[in-house]
Amino acid sequence: MSLQIGDVVPDFTAQTTEGEIHFHEWIDGSWCVLFSHPKNFTPVCTTELGYTAKLKPEFDKRGVKVIGLSCDPIDAHHKWALDIEETQGYAPNFPLIADADRTVANLYGMIHPNASDTLTVRSVFVIGPDKKVKLSLTYPASTGRNFDEVLRVIDSLQLTAKSQVATPVNWKQGEDVIIVPAVSDEEAKKKFPQGWKTLKPYLRVVAQPKA
Ligand code: BEZ
Repeated sequence: MSLQIGDVVPDFTAQTTEGEIHFHEWIDGSWCVLFSHPKNFTPVCTTELGYTAKLKPEFDKRGVKVIGLSCDPIDAHHKWALDIEETQGYAPNFPLIADADRTVANLYGMIHPNASDTLTVRSVFVIGPDKKVKLSLTYPASTGRNFDEVLRVIDSLQLTAKSQVATPVNWKQGEDVIIVPAVSDEEAKKKFPQGWKTLKPYLRVVAQPKA
């Protein structure tokens, strides 16, 4: 069975472009994004890694550590980084796991044998400070992921963790949010003294709480 939301992620030790890591220790109470690439020196992955490097300050701002994985050896990762910088304008500025024997890929269910016996799919795991899966995405090898969307989900998750609100369809930072059903009107009066709009008893809309 693949990893599901709420599961504690498996621990592992791995070689990365920034040295050996013990994953649970490396997370160290931060939020984390772990994402896999089918193979080094492939076009879609090259664009994804460049774009994620460009977004790194946004992940930093949210206290999120980023780590990639590709099932190739470490020297190939270092060579590929040069191509990524040359073609995308940004070299990876976060660790890339060298999972040549697919230990981590298998632990995290990143190989889907009916797609390929050897290549990982494009997995994304957003992991909370409690080391539990908060989000998992699985994309096919041919479709590049939207890392702006990964950031948007992190904003929503962090807001929920802090303020007991949920975010509606296509929500973006600064837009109205929803009071979660677990919060009674009585409790809501204390939490949101400025008031809210009740569209239905189960649909209460409130301005986004300040950070
Ligand atoms: C790519 O990253 O471009 C890619 C990788 C595996 C299969 C197809 C595309």
